[in-house]
Amino acid sequence: MAGRTVYIETFGCQMNELDSELVSGQLRALGYAFTEEPDRADVVLYNTCSVRDHAEQKVRSRLGELRERRASDPGLVVGVLGCMAERDGRDMIARFPVIDVLCGPGELDKLPALLDNAVRTRGAIVSDPDSARERFVALQGGASRRSATLAAAADSLELLDLSRAVSPDDHSGSAYVRITRGCNKFCTYCVVPHTRGAEVHRPPDHIVDECKRLADAGVVEVTLLGQTVNHYRFEHGAVVTMGGIVQPQKGRAYAGGHRRDPFEGERVTTFAGLLRRIHEEAPGIARLRFVTSYPRDFGDDVLEVIRDSPRICRYLHVPAQSGSDAVLARMNRGYTVGEYLEFIDRARGVLDEPEKGRPLSIAGDIIAGFCAETEDDHRATAALLRRVRYKNCFIFRYSPRPGTAAFDRLADDVPEEDKRRRVNELLALQQSISDEVSREQVGREFEVFVQGVSAHEAKREPSRGRVPLTVGGRASEREASAPVVQLSARTEGDLIVVFDCPAGRSGAELVGSLVRVKITAARGLTLFGVLP
Ligand code: SAH
Ligand code: SF4
Ligand code: F3S
Repeated sequence: MAGRTVYIETFGCQMNELDSELVSGQLRALGYAFTEEPDRADVVLYNTCSVRDHAEQKVRSRLGELRERRASDPGLVVGVLGCMAERDGRDMIARFPVIDVLCGPGELDKLPALLDNAVRTRGAIVSDPDSARERFVALQGGASRRSATLAAAADSLELLDLSRAVSPDDHSGSAYVRITRGCNKFCTYCVVPHTRGAEVHRPPDHIVDECKRLADAGVVEVTLLGQTVNHYRFEHGAVVTMGGIVQPQKGRAYAGGHRRDPFEGERVTTFAGLLRRIHEEAPGIARLRFVTSYPRDFGDDVLEVIRDSPRICRYLHVPAQSGSDAVLARMNRGYTVGEYLEFIDRARGVLDEPEKGRPLSIAGDIIAGFCAETEDDHRATAALLRRVRYKNCFIFRYSPRPGTAAFDRLADDVPEEDKRRRVNELLALQQSISDEVSREQVGREFEVFVQGVSAHEAKREPSRGRVPLTVGGRASEREASAPVVQLSARTEGDLIVVFDCPAGRSGAELVGSLVRVKITAARGLTLFGVLP
């Protein structure tokens, strides 16, 4: 609706960030403007996450604040999008009358129409306070699974991804590309299969095309997204077309343990095949990465494609969740600690080449204090962290989610103080491991992707000059001269590197490009470097 200004705030994972980007693109095309300041917006949208209670609480408190604003600004339109809308929508509408629009993550293609109606209705209320109040809702519904007829489920959502407008002036050099939606795993603690529905795989041609268009617009780094991204598989014999558009395909059950897919090629595009195609057909993408990998069914074929493709990053985010077999079984993760470690060793065997400046970086996730977790289980998780030596690991306190199997069937019986202590112990341990991993990089040379001016530098007042971080002797000379711009960049293994912009070059010109940097120091998770 032309003339309206939208503020959108995104919570949760990269999938949500991409959804917000796509939805914003569609609204912009319809004439909506965007602002970073919620107080100046006519439409406030929250793209929400339900994965832990904490994420939901933030949104509830935002909605509470908006109630007051609505009293003085009856034309304000409020929309709740994403996983929380899907999980808790009906209750939210009862609890928060301020909500005008509810839209689940599987229905986002309908958002422009919903919003249009909401804006009109609100406008009518402004001119006549007695006019009817209406809410506009699009959810997949209580059923956790999408309709068995895949086409009915996914066609319009595919249009949302296909609608992506890629403009050379409107990106940071880095972009997300979705390859699968939803999840079939049903880990007992997890709300995602209930909010995002069944796993579907996008047609490979759509994905490759999107990557090419991004590369043509100057995007250097693409991150492929999926909840179990390495399960990607598209069977060409089973293609369904609707309205001339090849439809995404339902995720098939995996027999498990396959190392290589015998059907790769004409009949099937596997994950390995997809990576190879993007690498070959979109060579402008200098950095290709993917998240999140599921530890089981990770074929050697995928590892070999990564090894043989210089532009695919040596980086895996492959969460273990726990280091105890008993806990993994209760979580329904479908692998043992032994199998997880077998995969880690196999991946390092193929991909860890520090001597070539290409060490394999592994990141993980852990849930501490899951139902019936004992101190022995907790120690086993600590042992797993020591054994795997993650570059970094997200450590979460178990948060029971209504609607999940664990919520219904397992007692949340680890006392809050034990959960908290276990999280803290694991965080401290991981911190020391991350520090060690960082220090091992000193002296190595990496190609890094320059993301921007470092946060540290951005906070500094320009008139005050800077404190040199890495170079000793010449500090006083430097401080006396013009302030040096410090840039922040990432290695292919997702390590943060901070370095000084070389004299005579502007920081802006380097942002979004790749440069070689020699690491001179490490502090915590940050590496410091110089251009050789
Ligand atoms: N698909 C990804 C994870 C998606 S959710 C995977 O399987 O690895 C992101 C992370 O949130 C999970 O890895 C898990 O560590 C955490 N998480 C999910 N549900 C949670 C819950 N109920 N309580 C605490 N952490 C949770
Ligand atoms: Fe959730 Fe498990 Fe699916 Fe990951 S694999 S999204 S943790 S159900
Ligand atoms: Fe959250 Fe939904 Fe992502 S629950 S983590 S926003 S898939």
